[in-house]
Amino acid sequence: MRIGSQAHKELFCSEFKATHRVFEPAELPWPELDESGLERLRAVPFWQEVFHTERRAGAIVQAFAKTVEDPLLRETIDLQGYEEARHARLIRVMIDRYGLAAKEQPIEKLPDDAVTAFIDFGYGECFDAFLGFGVFKIARQSHFLPDAMFALFDVLMYEETRHIVFFVNWMAYHEVERGRGAAALRALTSLYYYGRALGRLVGTVRRGADSDGANFSATQADVFLNDFSVKRLVRECLAENARRMGEFDPALLQPRLLPAVGRIASSALRLWPDRRPSPQPV
Ligand SMILES: [Fe+2]
Ligand SMILES: [Fe+2]
Repeated sequence: MRIGSQAHKELFCSEFKATHRVFEPAELPWPELDESGLERLRAVPFWQEVFHTERRAGAIVQAFAKTVEDPLLRETIDLQGYEEARHARLIRVMIDRYGLAAKEQPIEKLPDDAVTAFIDFGYGECFDAFLGFGVFKIARQSHFLPDAMFALFDVLMYEETRHIVFFVNWMAYHEVERGRGAAALRALTSLYYYGRALGRLVGTVRRGADSDGANFSATQADVFLNDFSVKRLVRECLAENARRMGEFDPALLQPRLLPAVGRIASSALRLWPDRRPSPQPV
């Protein structure tokens, strides 16, 4: 199958549609949390950011879908927009149910150029998902919250994985259609957009650290952060990426840059001690 062909388009669209799950967030099996579970969930500093990001994602993807002429692509992208909007509804159900301090903020005006907005959003998702894989695994293994809660978040993680696989295939198809399908050219384009996505990610992390990130690490998250090291994060991101990507048709493209960077980082970090030796009492 040639990348950018009609067969390629039909494959990445049909895989996306066939793996869509029908559910309503309010009807998911939300667990009862005890006081300490509630306290931990409420101390997570980024629910407002996540809620806003998902609402914005739904708006960007649905706005782009309206501009797409190809009926199959339009229908599939619209389905992704529906899933993003459902993520926002899922987060809203959680905020209401557990009394989290996250408010609905107005969505900033969307860019006029819907296709560039969708592309920027797609590369951003590739970053978020790759890092999210590792953070999710470490948090789950440290029993930061009851496993039933992680099972719910896993629904979201699975959909984000589908989104990035769809996106990298759509992007390659889109580039071929514009006569920019040469592999080297596509790699350069990816690098450019990954650079932009990294810039935005750094900005978000900075904002988070400036607001209440320090509070989180100082008070509530020791159970999670005790298990945390950059070396482990990279290892878990890579392992989870491989596991989750293994579920997709191998004929489809998968995000490659971040796993490649992760493997290089992982080899370099192998030389790094796991923990700094604790200071010796005098
Ligand atoms: Fe989402
Ligand atoms: Fe997504």
